[in-house]
Amino acid sequence: MQNVDRRNMLLGLGGLYGAANLTNIGSALAYPITAPENISNCVAADVGFNTEDNVRGSACCPPTTQTTAVPYVLPEFSELRVRPAADRLTPEYIAKYQLAIKRMKELPDEDPRSWKQQGKIHCAYCNGGYSQYMSGHPELKIQVHNNSLFFPFHRWYLYFYERILGSLIEDPTFGLPYWNWDNPKGMLLPEMLEAPYPNPDPTRPPNPKFNPLFDPYRNVAHLPPAIVDLDRGNTGGDKDCVAQISENLTAVYDQMIADSTANPDAFFGTNPDPDPTKIIAGKIESGVHTAVHIWVGNPRMPNNEDMGNFYSAGYDPAFYLLHSNVDRMWQIWNELDIRNVNPSNDDWLNASFVFYDENQNLVRVYNRDCVDIERMGYTFEPSRLTWLQARSIPRNKASNIAAKSVGVVKKVEEIKFPVKLDKTVKVLVKRPATKRSEDDKKKASEMLFLEGIKYNGEQLFQFDVLVNDVDDGIETTRVSSEFAGTFAQVPHGLGGGHMLMSSGTAFGLTQILEDLEAEGDEYVLVTLVPREGAEDATISNIKIKLVPLAN
Ligand code: C2O
Repeated sequence: MQNVDRRNMLLGLGGLYGAANLTNIGSALAYPITAPENISNCVAADVGFNTEDNVRGSACCPPTTQTTAVPYVLPEFSELRVRPAADRLTPEYIAKYQLAIKRMKELPDEDPRSWKQQGKIHCAYCNGGYSQYMSGHPELKIQVHNNSLFFPFHRWYLYFYERILGSLIEDPTFGLPYWNWDNPKGMLLPEMLEAPYPNPDPTRPPNPKFNPLFDPYRNVAHLPPAIVDLDRGNTGGDKDCVAQISENLTAVYDQMIADSTANPDAFFGTNPDPDPTKIIAGKIESGVHTAVHIWVGNPRMPNNEDMGNFYSAGYDPAFYLLHSNVDRMWQIWNELDIRNVNPSNDDWLNASFVFYDENQNLVRVYNRDCVDIERMGYTFEPSRLTWLQARSIPRNKASNIAAKSVGVVKKVEEIKFPVKLDKTVKVLVKRPATKRSEDDKKKASEMLFLEGIKYNGEQLFQFDVLVNDVDDGIETTRVSSEFAGTFAQVPHGLGGGHMLMSSGTAFGLTQILEDLEAEGDEYVLVTLVPREGAEDATISNIKIKLVPLAN
C-alpha cells in the first residue's frame, strides 16, 4: 500500500488509482534512495544536534581522493568470518580486536579507513550530509533511520568496518563481535570496552583510558554491573535486575515476534517517502536499538555524546557492537519463520550507498546484495534465544474495559486531530473485525497504527502505548500483555532536514487481544503515556488496520 499511496501523491491523483492500476504506473517514478554520484556534493551536517556546542564536529563528509564510486562486487573468500558474542570472547580475541582498533585509530585522519572517518560516515548519512538529488528530491536529505533503509545501510556499514579491521591485523577471518543484549548474559556494557589497558609509560599502572575500545563519552552510571534497560535507555537503573531482565526479554520477543512475524513492514519499517507522514519506523529500530543508544550515551553532554546522538554515535566502538547484534536480529528474524521475507520492491532492492572499502576504493553498494550474509562472507556464532519464551502475561483477562469506557473515554472519531502528547491520552479505537478465526489471523495481522507523529527531533523522544489497560493503581510494565510497546527516537534529522520530525509506528494487537481474552470486543482502549521530550509532540491519526501477511 505504501508505494501505491506515494505514487498517487507524486502524480497528484489522490486516491484515483486503485491497487489494480499500479502496474500501469511506469518505473520512471521509482524512488530508490541513491547516495550521490559525486561524493563531493556532501555538505556539513546540520540537523539533529546542536551544531555550536558539539565535541565531534559537524564536518562529516568523506575524503574526496575519489569522488565517483564503482559498483561493488562481493569478493570470493575461502572461509566465513564468524562474529562472536562479546560476552564469550577469549582474552586472545579481545587482544586481537583491541589491536585492530588501535591501528585504525593510528591511521591519519584523512585516511578513509581511519577511526574518525568511520565515525563520520554515520553522521553524513543521518544528519543531513547528502541530499536526495539522485532520487529527484534535491530539497530532501538522505536519512537511513526511521525507515526500511535502517537494516541494509547498517549491514553494509559494518561489513566494510569489519573488513578494514581485519585487514589492519592481516586476518581475513576477523569477525566483528556482537553485543548480545538480547541474552541475560549480555545485558551489560561489554566489560572489554572499559577494561584497564597497559599504560604507555610502563612505570604507571594500566588504565581503561588507554584501552583502544574506551570512549570518554559514556554514561558512567551505566558501566558494569548496571543492566541495560531495553525499553527505556535513560533510567538510573533503580529497578531490580530480575524484573529488568524479564522486561528486556519481553521487549525483544514483542518486537521480533508479536509485532513482526510475517510482517516485513513492521520489522523493517516502510520505504522513505517524500511525505514523511507515510513512513513507519521498524520495531527493532525504534525499540531496543534506540534504548541501547540512549543507555550508553552520556546524558551530561550537550548532545548526549557519543551514543545518544546519531551525529556522534559512530565514534564509540560500542556502536559497532550494538549494530552487530542488530544485524544478527535481522538474520534471526529471517530464520524464525519461513514467512519472514525481506522486502522485494524495487525501491528497496535498488537503494544504494557509497563507502570506502578496506583497499580505500570508493564503492557503491545496493540493498539487493546484502540479503545473504553468507554470500557476504560472514555468519554469527549462535547464542541462546532466551526471549523466545518471553511472551507477556495479562494483568486483567476479559476485563471488558473498552465497553465499560464508552461514554467516559472519547472514540477516535470524536477526537480532534492532531492530538497533543503533553499528557496521557486515552481513546477508544474501533476494530475492523472481531472474533477473528485462526485462518483470518494467518492471513492478516491486526495492528494499531499511530500515524504522523510530530516531535522535536533534537531531543530524545519517547512514549509508551497500552492496550485495554485497567486503571487500578498498579503500574503496567513491559511484561504485561497490556503494554503494547514503546516508541523512542535517538535525536536525529529526518529527510526534510527540519527540527520538527515526523514518523509513524504500529503495534501488533493479535497476540495481545488473545491473551487479554478481548477478541470479541468491538473497541480497543488505547492509552498513550508520554515519557520523554513529548511536550510539543502530536499525533495526527490513530487507527486499527488488518495488514495482509506474507504466506
Ligand atoms: Cu545508525 Cu544505531 O544507528
